Amino acid sequence: MRTEYHCHILPGIDDGASDAETSLEMIETLKEQGIERIIATPHFYAHREASVESFLRKRQAAFDEIKDRAAIKNIVLGAEVAIEHGISEVPGIEKLAVEGTKMILLELPYRAYEKWMAEEIYNIHAEYKLKIMLAHVHRYLRYYNKDEMELILSTKSVMQINNEAFTSWSEKKLAKQITASDKRFTFGSDAHNNSSRKPNWDIISKKVKPEAIELSDGIFDRYALTPEKV
Ligand SMILES: [Fe+2]
Repeated sequence: MRTEYHCHILPGIDDGASDAETSLEMIETLKEQGIERIIATPHFYAHREASVESFLRKRQAAFDEIKDRAAIKNIVLGAEVAIEHGISEVPGIEKLAVEGTKMILLELPYRAYEKWMAEEIYNIHAEYKLKIMLAHVHRYLRYYNKDEMELILSTKSVMQINNEAFTSWSEKKLAKQITASDKRFTFGSDAHNNSSRKPNWDIISKKVKPEAIELSDGIFDRYALTPEKV
């Protein structure tokens, strides 16, 4: 099932869709681009939120605003969790995993690599037995040196690639390297609106081989919880 792994379609919860109309338009565009399942991943910044529980209530309210009118019915709730100091100890952090899966989308800070970042990633994985999906890994090329980038790529995380990486001269190389290897990877538009940062799956269908898109699509089921475990 063609799956969008990273986008900000839920209305009014982050810097993504500002209202329900924008949200519905974005979903319509995703449908036109062949998407069948959307994982909605609003930003979660621990230092800005009162608690995971209150974030989950906001997320549900945003979803309730659009779910009955959405052009794509298969919308799964998740979050893009910013890695901060102590994030692995935030109560309930595991509840931000993609619904129905043991997978959580984490976003590294946009600055030079430091060891504590890898420790937080490891702790979330080890404590909650969650598979880590690292958001738009190619964006860190400008912050990390080669060894640090290798370190991140050598983790057993799922590497999430933003579709636009295939249009960037510098990021394309890494995106191709990841999709050509046996690494686990997923694609996402990281769309925030229907204008300047709109759904861009047209890029993927032009630039990526169908087999690679299928590998990305398969990741959801690979880490889905079996009914017995739910
Ligand atoms: Fe994002």
